[in-house]
Amino acid sequence: MRVAIIGTGYVGLTTGVCLAFIGHDVYCLDSDKSKIEALRNGRVPIFEPFLAELLEEARSNLTFTTCYEEAIPGAEVVFIAVGTPPTPSGAPNLEFLSQAARSIGQHMNSHLTVVVNKSTVPIGSGNWVDSLLRDAIDSRQNGGEHTGFAVASNPEFLREGSALHDSLYPDRIVIGADEPRALEVLYTLYRPILDQTFSAPTYLPRPETVGAVPLLSTDLASAELIKYAANAFLALKISFINEIGLVAERVGADISEVGRGIGLDSRIGPRFLSAGIGWGGSCFGKDTAALIATAGEYGLHLPIVEAARKINSRQRDRVVEKLLHELKILKGRTIGLLGLAFKPNTDDLREAPAIEIAQKLIDRGVRVKAHDPVAIDRFEREHKGMGVLLCGSACEVAEGCDALVLITEWSEYRDLEWEEIAKKMRCPIILDGRHALDAEKLSRAGLRMLSIS
Ligand code: UGA
Repeated sequence: MRVAIIGTGYVGLTTGVCLAFIGHDVYCLDSDKSKIEALRNGRVPIFEPFLAELLEEARSNLTFTTCYEEAIPGAEVVFIAVGTPPTPSGAPNLEFLSQAARSIGQHMNSHLTVVVNKSTVPIGSGNWVDSLLRDAIDSRQNGGEHTGFAVASNPEFLREGSALHDSLYPDRIVIGADEPRALEVLYTLYRPILDQTFSAPTYLPRPETVGAVPLLSTDLASAELIKYAANAFLALKISFINEIGLVAERVGADISEVGRGIGLDSRIGPRFLSAGIGWGGSCFGKDTAALIATAGEYGLHLPIVEAARKINSRQRDRVVEKLLHELKILKGRTIGLLGLAFKPNTDDLREAPAIEIAQKLIDRGVRVKAHDPVAIDRFEREHKGMGVLLCGSACEVAEGCDALVLITEWSEYRDLEWEEIAKKMRCPIILDGRHALDAEKLSRAGLRMLSIS
């Protein structure tokens, strides 16, 4: 099928490359000329494992463009995957979405184009996009004769760092559409993934447990709410374990064991129960704020979602409190951060806990050093003014430090030369913010390990 995707961020690019890989003819559009130029040359502008490899394999089915005239006419499906950054009120900024909808309406020409919201958009956006498309068609000189369209919502559940895995082997595909024709088109589009009939790339083998993928078809508003509810639930699962962590700390329980113990109950499930410094990233914070803002428009309060946000922000303060308790005076100390990205396997720094924690420490007169296996360059570009001293290795960070804090659980941090690190530090203290390190190993190396539970 002929597909156009507006926006080449994490969601748009991953979706485009995966759909091209399973055999569709995909046009990826972005207004950023340099991004499109890089993609044409096979360079992927984001750090996402195997994306460059899959793009290379799917190259013959991919066209990268900045022109709506090139991408939209003839497309059977158009995905809108543009950014919806938060505004100060918590409600998302829908400017890019509305621009995209208008431009699509100006250029679509087939009897039925299915326009799909893939960006996380407020409930009711499906109807709004519908009206923008209709206005754009009506304003065309030829009146958009023979142009027909249907709007659908197809929320994305991929995680950065495992975006391709999540797209090729999803837990479910949700399609919200009020018109049955839209559902039929999207069913055909996703069939190779739903039935798992494509040959898996060697570097992303199909997990043995993956069978046919469930398709959930709903009305527009339900699909839109599923996306927000899913992210809010995952966020509150993390905040729940962090709240229980506070109790665990007081009563002398091990929060990792508690998480395992409750997660083995199949009604609860083991994932997203890792305690620590809490969630970061561009989604949980933005989407919980947007859900609260939407509820507010209907005069509703969401105390559970609000509490999840408060607990998450308190976890960052607890890092500072722990260090203060241990070192007594923070002013003039040197503290090293291991990890800057908001999670491993990405260089994304949006809402990264490292930034918030670094700022809190700097505000207290601490000299902050940091390392990250992939996000250093991005940090330098985006947060140069903060005054964090960036280092080429974990060992270099440790040099002269009064404490280290593990912020991002990159796998390479699990097996560092801890003896060497301990020797380089002024005080051999490490705060494991992710319950990722082996306490015995660290203690043998002469390090005192603290944790945030
Ligand atoms: C999240 C959702 O998991 C995806 O399903 C969704 O599609 C995406 O948002 C989105 O809306 O676009 P993502 O933000 O990429 O994906 O990353 P996650 O793996 O969910 O991690 C989010 C944060 O939670 C990270 O900072 C991670 O370190 C933290 N986390 C995760 C914990 O603190 N504890 C856990 O047990 C799990």
